[in-house]
Amino acid sequence: MSPSWPHLVGFGCYKLGGVAPPPEPKDPKVIETAILTAIHVGYRTFDNAQFYENEKEIGDAFEKVFKRTKHIIQQCTSGTDSSTVVNLPPELEESEASNSPLRDPTFPLIQREDLFIISKIWQQNVYEGETAILQQLKKTVAELKCDYLDLYLIHWPVPEGKHAEAYKYLWTEVLDSENGVIRRLGVSNYTVPDYLELMKIMNGIENSNGRKPIKPFCNQFEISPLLYRKSTIEFFKNEGILIQAYRSFTDGKFGKPEYTYNTSSSSVQSEESALDTKFANDKEVLTFRRITKRTGKTACQVALKWAVMKNIQVLPKSNTPIRIRENKPDNIINNNVLTDNDSWSLNEEEVCLLDSLMTKEHWDRYKNHYLQCRIRDTPLKNKENVVFWEEEKGEMKFQ
Ligand SMILES: NC(=O)c1ccc[n+]([C@@H]2O[C@H](COP(=O)([O-])OP(=O)(O)OC[C@H]3O[C@@H](n4cnc5c(N)ncnc54)[C@H](OP(=O)(O)O)[C@@H]3O)[C@@H](O)[C@H]2O)c1
Repeated sequence: MSPSWPHLVGFGCYKLGGVAPPPEPKDPKVIETAILTAIHVGYRTFDNAQFYENEKEIGDAFEKVFKRTKHIIQQCTSGTDSSTVVNLPPELEESEASNSPLRDPTFPLIQREDLFIISKIWQQNVYEGETAILQQLKKTVAELKCDYLDLYLIHWPVPEGKHAEAYKYLWTEVLDSENGVIRRLGVSNYTVPDYLELMKIMNGIENSNGRKPIKPFCNQFEISPLLYRKSTIEFFKNEGILIQAYRSFTDGKFGKPEYTYNTSSSSVQSEESALDTKFANDKEVLTFRRITKRTGKTACQVALKWAVMKNIQVLPKSNTPIRIRENKPDNIINNNVLTDNDSWSLNEEEVCLLDSLMTKEHWDRYKNHYLQCRIRDTPLKNKENVVFWEEEKGEMKFQ
């Protein structure tokens, strides 16, 4: 049975199968294997976007899973169940290799409603407005072969009120209509001022069903021990908005061997001591080494755990089945929900150490990224306008 929503560990799909956007080629087989592996090992939330340019390939994999489930259920109800051998529908029987996860009897029976599927609308369409937004939304749903999205996000807060116009349109005219093509509406990369601007524009507005609250369901933004914007996170939590973290591994940085103290074999202890010496002055690496040594977990697992202990949803991405398993929900948190009785946790001192790793370099990188991305693919000029919240600025005390 699927755990109840929100699943604190979901699966990220940016650059799944290769680097998007083109000209870098994407590999549909890598995408299919990753999605099937993720479903097999327990991920149920999938974070997609128009910008990732892989929604069709991801949808093809979902479709295979749904077809397989339907076929097996039909066989069971018609009494032709062969119990130990998985009989696939004829079209998959021919195309699936003998080692396909779909042939594995332990592969779960997943239907559309067992998955929580997210997508996002890109700045160009947000800027262009209603027609472009609706056209893209329909394309996304068709490509993902999912009938509806559980959650649709404004990918970046396009300035000059464009983000709020898009949100208002989706709120008033698409949510609860258009055959229920979106179930929830959220935002991504919003600062507190962006959110306040949105709420000002949405003040007093209802949709056709009188649905309230008008607040976004979530705000998805970059969060990791290297970019921990505490007051912003607290602000959105206090507003009752779910926080989703992306780039939990800082572009795979925590996957580097030196971040994890290898406790698996005594024969490598001399190498581990050498690494301790080499990184003796590197607070970031040493913090992860210390925590991974005590917990026996990898640095990537520690980074995910750090966020979920704050009730922040994480969306680790990997093209690599072994890493998809390493990051899987069961390895991070029991039943994918936060309780007081988890099988492992970080202690208070470790959480404090991780909380203190943000540097000016990471803050500056984030700020530039924000300023560029929110106008990307739009005719808007890059203006150095004030976008940060005074309280957040006050908290940036870098050593
Ligand atoms: N809303 C937004 O603007 C926004 C922006 C960025 C991302 N996102 C979402 O958030 C998701 C996660 O962010 P992200 O993809 O940027 O970064 P991420 O998940 O933090 O890191 C992905 C990188 O880490 C590597 N990796 C994953 N697990 C590993 C492990 N156990 N050991 C070693 N390396 C590992 C992956 O390598 P391999 O793939 O080669 O295994 C990949 O290079 C995205 O996929 C996307 O869904 C949203």
